[in-house]
Amino acid sequence: MLKSVISKRTLATAAATATKPPKMKSFKIYRWNPDTPAVKPKMQEFQVDLNDCGPMVLDALLKIKNEQDHTLTFRRSCREGICGSCAMNIGGRNTLACLCKIDKNVNKTVKIYPLPHMHIVKDLVPDLTQFYKQYKSIHPYLHRAKFPADGKEILQSVEDRKKLDGLYECILCACCSTSCPSYWWNSEEYLGPAVLMQAYRWMVDTRDEAFASRKEELQNSMSVYRCHTILNCTRTCPKGLNPGKAIAEIKKFLAVD
Ligand code: SF4
Ligand code: SF4
Ligand code: FES
Repeated sequence: MLKSVISKRTLATAAATATKPPKMKSFKIYRWNPDTPAVKPKMQEFQVDLNDCGPMVLDALLKIKNEQDHTLTFRRSCREGICGSCAMNIGGRNTLACLCKIDKNVNKTVKIYPLPHMHIVKDLVPDLTQFYKQYKSIHPYLHRAKFPADGKEILQSVEDRKKLDGLYECILCACCSTSCPSYWWNSEEYLGPAVLMQAYRWMVDTRDEAFASRKEELQNSMSVYRCHTILNCTRTCPKGLNPGKAIAEIKKFLAVD
């Protein structure tokens, strides 16, 4: 019964699409192939009929890959803003392709680049090796010597748990770090907003016992203090988080002996 309802609906949608005149939208996409390194990167234009495409930029990318050019390369997985893998620069802003609606104005071209100032693996895929190395460096897990004898969970008060809100939701998409000018120029030593927000997340977790050593590791001129409060990070976060504020809070910790 369900199957016949779905197939009727699919047929109705297909019929409606077939009768509508095409609504062609132009997408210009950054292309670079490591197998032909002598060929310079270029922007390649594709036309997509919006009447036969889902509403998000990721839908258009998948349609182009499936129907026009199988070699177009990008990361994606969840298609609902959870995995963080489809982060890219769309229309001048770092965001998630699966959460970014296609502008319906067909007179405007959508320009899509990989996340800025990163080494590129291919097309829209940035090399995140350094980003993950930095994440690993802040020990993003609970440090604790003793655990409850009954083997149960470590309890927190409601107030203490609330301190993690706005921090644990980060999906490590790297949109913020790659929008930060300080990170562009100092990514070898400056940890950048995404990693620093996670450092802060562990510093304020009342179940963690490594506050002093976490603070000590950040107490130098590069790890945190390259942040100049430009706040590109907070403006661009597709999850509406505020890494700029987390960095300001870390600076307050560092200022106290
Ligand atoms: S507030 Fe700090 S981390 Fe955020 S963009 Fe500015 S310099 Fe970068
Ligand atoms: S803070 Fe936001 S932009 Fe930065 S990595 Fe986390 S989810 Fe992505
Ligand atoms: S595909 Fe997972 S966040 Fe976009």
